[in-house]
Amino acid sequence: MKRIVVLISGRGTNLLSLAQSIAEDRWRAQIVGVISDGPDAPGLRYAKQYVLETEVVDFRTFAVRADFDRALAAAIDRREPDFVVLAGFMRVLGREFVDHYAGRLLNIHPSLLPAFPGLHTHRRALEAGVAVHGATVHLVGHEVDSGPIIAQAALAVGAGDDETRLASRVLALEHRLYPMALRWFVEDRVRVEDGRVVLVEPREGDARCLWGG
Ligand code: GRF
Repeated sequence: MKRIVVLISGRGTNLLSLAQSIAEDRWRAQIVGVISDGPDAPGLRYAKQYVLETEVVDFRTFAVRADFDRALAAAIDRREPDFVVLAGFMRVLGREFVDHYAGRLLNIHPSLLPAFPGLHTHRRALEAGVAVHGATVHLVGHEVDSGPIIAQAALAVGAGDDETRLASRVLALEHRLYPMALRWFVEDRVRVEDGRVVLVEPREGDARCLWGG
């Protein structure tokens, strides 16, 4: 059984989609901890629903980011995870932290990286007038929203898309994308060569790009 720790800050719908997939599709994996950076993250309720162990490492109690990173790493490492999954985790993590989890720290970002790293991605995509938008699952690199791309989900931006509608269309894709990408890791089918992700032993139905309606 592979061991997964999920880090959240907010709503937690990606945590929910991962917990659902793991349970329903009987992955050889378990979520061994859900760690939130604050006590009020609504997503903690999904952890309860799936009877997952939770811990809060409250960033507001640390004056220095490096101290928060160290406390967070200690909480993670106590659970001896194979993979650490950022699911709407809103803190920027330092170099030491990122290096400690190299190759096993995943993030989901609501844009087609490298376009639109950072916040307010849907608004910025609409302002830029892009015809295609989406989400990316990637290994975490040193810069914000950087690192080898594992898989992406894309959709055509429609005339009726305002920020709210576009966000919910992308989120629906995220809920398919993250379980798909994480499962490749659980099955030990991902290699990184020259900074690029290669899927080994490809199977029918594998797609590093999902298309949404
Ligand atoms: C998602 O859009 C994810 O891509 C981004 O933060 C949001 C988290 O949503 N990193 P949720 O908390 O999983 O509902």
